[in-house]
Amino acid sequence: MGYALKETKYRYRAYTENGTWQKGFLTEDKNISIHEGSNVFHYGQALFEGLKAYKTKDGDVQLFRPDLNYIRINEGLKRIVAPELPEELFFEAIEEVVRANKDDIPEYGDGKSLYIRPFVIGQGMNLGVKPSEEYLFSVFCAPVGTYFKGGLAALDFVTTDYDRAAANGTGKVKVAGNYAASLYPRQQAIDAGYAGVIYLDPLTHSKIDEVGAANFFAVTHDNVLVTPKSSSILPSITKRSILYIAEHMLGMKVEERDAHIDNLDEFKEAGACGTAAIITPIGSITHKGKKTIFGDGETVGEVTKKLYDTLVKIYYGDMEAPEGWIRKVL
Ligand code: PLP
Ligand code: COI
Repeated sequence: MGYALKETKYRYRAYTENGTWQKGFLTEDKNISIHEGSNVFHYGQALFEGLKAYKTKDGDVQLFRPDLNYIRINEGLKRIVAPELPEELFFEAIEEVVRANKDDIPEYGDGKSLYIRPFVIGQGMNLGVKPSEEYLFSVFCAPVGTYFKGGLAALDFVTTDYDRAAANGTGKVKVAGNYAASLYPRQQAIDAGYAGVIYLDPLTHSKIDEVGAANFFAVTHDNVLVTPKSSSILPSITKRSILYIAEHMLGMKVEERDAHIDNLDEFKEAGACGTAAIITPIGSITHKGKKTIFGDGETVGEVTKKLYDTLVKIYYGDMEAPEGWIRKVL
């Protein structure tokens, strides 16, 4: 089951009719039966999102910035020429799935949460390379713990010569094909003993793009939080949130700019961030045989720890969130 701790009972399904999304329904059926000629199987018309529901100390259940997942899924749907989702349908699906599976939402206090996976696929007989005429939107969920083993222990990463996405390709949306492209370099990194892979910008291979299925951030020796600016990275909601936290809550300077792979010594700390990764400290990056170590290479740095603590307190309702970041479900 990989990252999921268990399967849950209910999922939501909705379909298009004549290109328009219809109201959906909850079902216990985990299997989807679709035509062998469906676009999703051959031409990759598939897109997903990932967000989490957190249980607070008082037993409330809340989502973290789901409005940004809603905007991002529609950006992706436009990119694969699939019908955009109405806001009401997106939220109804997520909230119904969370409520229906409420007994499987991890309790407050042990760092677990309910991972929610909305996705859209193009289905129906379609042999030519063109958009589907029919679509499925579904949402399922699973309780999860940490994505990378080790929690706040710093992990070792390695760069790859492969790209997960082209410079003007699909890197900035969550299409399934980006993840298919990432499996081989990920496997190579893991076989070589690393926690994961660092992608460089596809045009020049001289700047950091992403860390597997997470964004990259780093802290300079004079405490500036840096995240890469690139047309091929997924605009991470966690990344946008830690930029805000650093600037407005921790009083740091922040910069979205290039992080040159040959100039990693400018950073005292580095990390990966994402819904699944949360904040995972990077202990070292190996590039063409040269290993750059951040801090002591093993324990979390001071700024990374502050970012982590603030973010996690907001997730679980232990700290007041900036306006509009939290949506209560239960
Ligand atoms: N980058 C990639 C390629 C991802 O798949 C994800 C996960 O969603 C992220 C970054 C992190 O994005 P977010 O913080 O919105 O989860
Ligand atoms: C996420 O952080 O939501 C991701 O997309 C990572 C993943 C489990 C693919």
